[in-house]
Amino acid sequence: MMTNVSLIDLSLFLLLIFHFSQNPTADAAGGKWQVLKNVGISAMHMQLLKNDRIILFDRTDFGKSNLSLPNGNCVNNYCTAHSAEFTVQTNAVRPLTVLSDVWCSSGSMAPNGNLIQTGGFNGGERRVRVFQPCTGCDWKEIVDGVNVRRWYATNHVLPDGRHIVGGRRQFNYEFYPKTPSSSSVYSLPPTMPARKIISTLLFFSTPTANLFIFANNRAILSIGVKGAQCPRIGSATGGDPRSYPSTGSAVLLPLKNLTAPSVEAEVLICGGTPKGSYTKATNGTFVGALNTCARIKITDPNPQWVVETMPQARVMGDMILLPDATVLLINGASSGAAGWELGRNPVLSPVVYRPNNAVGSRFEQQNPTTIPRMYHSTALLVRDGRVLVGGSNPHDKYEFGNNVLFSTELRLEAFSPQYLDAKYADLRPTIIAPLNQAKIRYGIKLAVQFSLTGTLATNSVYLTMVAPPFSSHSFSMNQRLLVLGAENVRQVGPTTYQAQVTTPPSGNLAPSGFYILYVVHQQIPSEGIFVQILLNLPENPRRQPKVGRMACVVKTMPQARVMGDMRLLTNCSASNSNGAAVVTAGWEFNITRQCCPVTVTRKQPLSRIQDYLTAQSFKSISP
Ligand SMILES: *[C@@H]1O[C@H](CO)[C@@H](O)[C@H](O)[C@H]1NC(C)=O
Ligand SMILES: *[C@@H]1O[C@H](CO)[C@@H](O)[C@H](O)[C@H]1NC(C)=O
Ligand SMILES: *[C@@H]1O[C@H](CO)[C@@H](O)[C@H](O)[C@H]1NC(C)=O
Ligand SMILES: *[C@@H]1O[C@H](CO)[C@@H](O)[C@H](O)[C@H]1NC(C)=O
Ligand SMILES: *[C@@H]1O[C@H](CO)[C@@H](O)[C@H](O)[C@H]1NC(C)=O
Repeated sequence: MMTNVSLIDLSLFLLLIFHFSQNPTADAAGGKWQVLKNVGISAMHMQLLKNDRIILFDRTDFGKSNLSLPNGNCVNNYCTAHSAEFTVQTNAVRPLTVLSDVWCSSGSMAPNGNLIQTGGFNGGERRVRVFQPCTGCDWKEIVDGVNVRRWYATNHVLPDGRHIVGGRRQFNYEFYPKTPSSSSVYSLPPTMPARKIISTLLFFSTPTANLFIFANNRAILSIGVKGAQCPRIGSATGGDPRSYPSTGSAVLLPLKNLTAPSVEAEVLICGGTPKGSYTKATNGTFVGALNTCARIKITDPNPQWVVETMPQARVMGDMILLPDATVLLINGASSGAAGWELGRNPVLSPVVYRPNNAVGSRFEQQNPTTIPRMYHSTALLVRDGRVLVGGSNPHDKYEFGNNVLFSTELRLEAFSPQYLDAKYADLRPTIIAPLNQAKIRYGIKLAVQFSLTGTLATNSVYLTMVAPPFSSHSFSMNQRLLVLGAENVRQVGPTTYQAQVTTPPSGNLAPSGFYILYVVHQQIPSEGIFVQILLNLPENPRRQPKVGRMACVVKTMPQARVMGDMRLLTNCSASNSNGAAVVTAGWEFNITRQCCPVTVTRKQPLSRIQDYLTAQSFKSISP
């Protein structure tokens, strides 16, 4: 046994050495830019769908766009489109018809691959719009699909496949689709800073299915817990805000070691503006943006922000998770604030952030573009590993020409990170099996075959899986990347190889739906394939009945527990080894959480069954 352990240690050690000596991307900054296409509208919002089409849209009250509606149609006397479908492989553009105003709205992809887009402005603020990815499909609008006005809203997909929607000027959240037990609007805790300041919410779901919410200059850990609040992000930066209009960007860093008893999760928030910048900018003074990032391990019992310095200040940037499990900071400006005409000094160079490097050697500046991407610009990863950038319109209409400061930008552009350089062609794997669009399940062993023209470095292979996010206002809603590692990497043909991975254990780590799967070899990712993680189904329906809308296994207990009228205990941890959860229909634990150890103080009856999210937030509590 001892021998085995030391052998493993030794191979890890060798693996580390190997990484250092073989790391091909360790040399100087790189990356290439290419203008792709004038798509006729300004890409204020973008989402990649499972068929490699990007749905993009701006706002219907922008005036005339440069793209006609299909078949000579007009909507409310406007005959130009404000939404389009862009095909990644061909750069083809197809105009779409959106009927109500989608300005500053939110979105997320449902488990079946439909884009669920929520809210907007004026007549569009309570709409839900559904876009099904299929040939010739167009938007379908649901009137009053959300209960209250959703403008500058944020979405996140939950482990059970529902979407949570919340955000600016609404101190509450709600769910889509509605269920009998979660049809209302739920208040945010009174300490949530969004109550005081106009601000967008940033959502991150943790491996224990809590939601980490950030707004302005601070965070709370779970919206299921009343009054919970973690340290202000400003503890080391003077309380400076980081969400709209002091727009920074943020990501949940890659989730690793997914089979460990408890998976760690970290959030990284970068850029923003010093307090008061928005007001100063409206008055003509464009204050330098923040040049710091703050990183926090949200699964720690007592999480602390760690502040790092970026190569340059950035407001209105975007943060994109790349297939090799690094983070790209792209777009934005170095002074002013988000809002009409308020940004100055575009930041043209992206920066790669390497989360696993030591502090001080994580940022690496990349080659610059020539196109400023100011307010209302977006960025997203596509399957081949490029990052597509669109939008930028800091004006309240389309404005073009040399006399316009930051002309409305209709061009899509691609940034190809250095891993796409031709000199790495021999290292780049090509996935052979499974095929694009494969369906997979939670917690299974999956064999992935790939080919390689060069020589395989067996210890330098890992797989990653990225959820394609909805990008708008410098935040990629629902963005997450899982590092799946690679077991049993071996040669199976002259130039073909196989690696085995264990798929994520549950929807807490990876809500069901479409992900892009990559094989990474010596830090060079393959082109990805789409895989669909299916909702958990019981292997033996008689022994493990599936109950209701929850994505977890429900068991009948061997004995009843004393809690009034309760007869069933629902065990949501059955598919996840993270501690015990006891969720009782009709009862709620009254718990208090102080950043963030949890104590159960007492139990009290509730008039209705709490929604799934609230129930899930008890996961870390011992009964
Ligand atoms: C509008 O589209 C036409 C081609 O359809 C193009 O020539 C023109 O430059 C575009 N205008 C702007 C402002 O992008
Ligand atoms: C996974 O966990 C092991 C053991 O706790 C640790 O040594 C290793 O660094 C972790 N790997 C990653 C990628 O975090
Ligand atoms: C705005 O500028 C005016 C004129 O320079 C000045 O008097 C005023 O105090 C400024 N207001 C703010 C909020 O900075
Ligand atoms: C919940 O499920 C876990 C994992 O299957 C199990 O270890 C635990 O005993 C269960 N708890 C209850 C209260 O049933
Ligand atoms: C929950 O517990 C706290 C701490 O014991 C108490 O102050 C509070 O009143 C309780 N809330 C409810 C609704 O019972």
